[in-house]
Amino acid sequence: MEIVCTPEENKIFEIVSKAATELNVQCYLIGGFVRDKLLGRPTKDADIVCTGDGIALAQLAAAKLSPKMTVSYFKNFGTAHFRYHDFDVEFVGARKESYRADSRKPDVEPGTIEDDQLRRDFTINALAISLNPGDYGKLTDPFNGLKDLDNKLIRTPLGPDVTFSDDPLRMMRAIRFATQLNFDIVPETFRSITTNAERIKIISQERITDELNKIMAAPKPSIGLDMLYRTGLLHHFFPQMVALAGAEFIDGKGHKDNFYHTLQVIDNAAARSNDLWLRWAALLHDIGKPATKRFEEGHGWTFHGHEVVGERMTPKIFKQLKLPQNEKMKYVAKLVALHLRPISLSKEDITDSAMRRLLFDAGDDLEDLMILCESDITSKNKQKVKRYLENFEMVKTRLVAVEESDKIRNWQPPISGDEIMQLFGLEPSRQVGILKTTIREAILDGIIPNTYDAAYQLLLTKAQELNLQPAKHE
Ligand code: CTP
Repeated sequence: MEIVCTPEENKIFEIVSKAATELNVQCYLIGGFVRDKLLGRPTKDADIVCTGDGIALAQLAAAKLSPKMTVSYFKNFGTAHFRYHDFDVEFVGARKESYRADSRKPDVEPGTIEDDQLRRDFTINALAISLNPGDYGKLTDPFNGLKDLDNKLIRTPLGPDVTFSDDPLRMMRAIRFATQLNFDIVPETFRSITTNAERIKIISQERITDELNKIMAAPKPSIGLDMLYRTGLLHHFFPQMVALAGAEFIDGKGHKDNFYHTLQVIDNAAARSNDLWLRWAALLHDIGKPATKRFEEGHGWTFHGHEVVGERMTPKIFKQLKLPQNEKMKYVAKLVALHLRPISLSKEDITDSAMRRLLFDAGDDLEDLMILCESDITSKNKQKVKRYLENFEMVKTRLVAVEESDKIRNWQPPISGDEIMQLFGLEPSRQVGILKTTIREAILDGIIPNTYDAAYQLLLTKAQELNLQPAKHE
C-alpha cells in the first residue's frame, strides 16, 4: 500500500529510519498520520512508535535533522516530541498492557509493535507503516483496519469493553471520528459505548469538551450529537441538551422535538459558516424551551421568553462545559437572546424604528444573527419554507436600506456622557443616564435624526424638564 508523502515528510522519516538503525530499534509510523494519508486527508503531524526507548530515538533523529532542534519529552510516559518546519513528530516506545486478575490497574511494560497496535483505540488508528530498512514503507494491518477504512467503520481492535475501560475518552473519540469522517460505528462497539457511558465521568471536562468541539466543527455536527444522545453519553455532561428531546401531546396537540430541531439548525448553520461559536449559538438557541414550556387552553404549546431564559443559561452552560468565559460566551448569549428578532420583522406593518432597534442591538453580529435565524427555518412544508425565506430576504433588504440612511450599527452617541457632565456641571449620576437614554431612544424611534445638532437641541429641552442649568465656565 503506497502513501504519498511531501518531500519534507519523506526527509524526516528517512532520518528517523537511519537513527533507528543506529540505535538498533524497529520503528513505524502509526495512528492518525497513516489513517489520514490513506484517506487522502491533510496531515500536520505524525506519530512514530519504536521498540525500545522512544525518547532516545527522538533525540538522535532531531540531532541529525538540525543541531538547533529541541526535543521535549516526558520521562514517565516514555514520549518525546519535536517540531520540524511546522510538522510535529511524536515518539513513543511500544508498550504492552497486562491486566492482573487482582488489580484493575494495568501494568505497562515494553512490548512489540503488535502489542502496541493491540492497545490502540480503533482498527483504523492501529495501521502502521514500517520505517525499517528491510521493509521500508510496508503496511502492517493486523486488525483489518484497511477494510474498515474502505467500509467506513469505527471498530475497536480488542473487545470494546476492554478498549473503553482502558480509556473512557475513547467513547467520545469514536463518535468524533465517526462525525469527522462520516463513518459508522459497528454495532458491538456502539453497544459497548451505551453500556459504559457512565464511565465518562472519570474523564476531565476539558478533554470531553475538546472532543465535543471537534464534533461541532465537523461538516455535519448532528451525526455526533445524535450518537452522543443515543449512547447516553450526553446525559452525563450536558443534561440541558437532553431535556430538549421528545414531544409532548395534550388534547392531540403536540410540539416539535426540540432536540432534533436543534440538530437540524446546527447542520444548517454549519453549511453556511465554519464559525464554531455561531454553531454553539445554534446549539443553544432553544435551550430555554423546556423551562418555559406551557400548554395554553385553546392555543396549544408555547415557549414564551425562551430566548431570555436561554441567554441566562448560556454562561452557566459555558462554565459547566469549561468553555471560555470571555467575549465568545457573550457573543453566543447575545445571538441566543436575539434569535427570534429578525423573523419577527417579516410581519407586515413593521416600522423603520423596529429595524433600527435590531441594527442597534445586533451591531457587528448582525450577519451571524441572520445566518442563525435563516438556519432556524426547518419546517418540512416546502411552501412554508419558501414563504419564510422570501419574507426573510425582504427583511434583509430593508435592514440594508435603513442602515444606509441612518448608520445605526456601531452607533456611538452623538453627544458623549463626558460632554453632558461638563455642560451641566454634573458628576456621574442617574441624570446623565436619563439624558443619554433620551437621545438614544429618540434617534432609534426616528424622532430626531442621528446628528449632533439635533441631539444637542433635544438635550437642552430634556435638561430643562429635569431642572438642570448649563454650567457657567470661566
Ligand atoms: N490513541 C489511542 N487512544 C487514545 C488516544 C490516542 O489509542 N485515547 C492512539 C491512536 O492510535 C491515535 C494515536 O494514538 O491514532 C494518536 O492520537 P491523537 O493524536 O490524539 O489522534 P489522531 O488519531 O492523530 O487524530 P487527530 O489528530 O485527528 O486527533
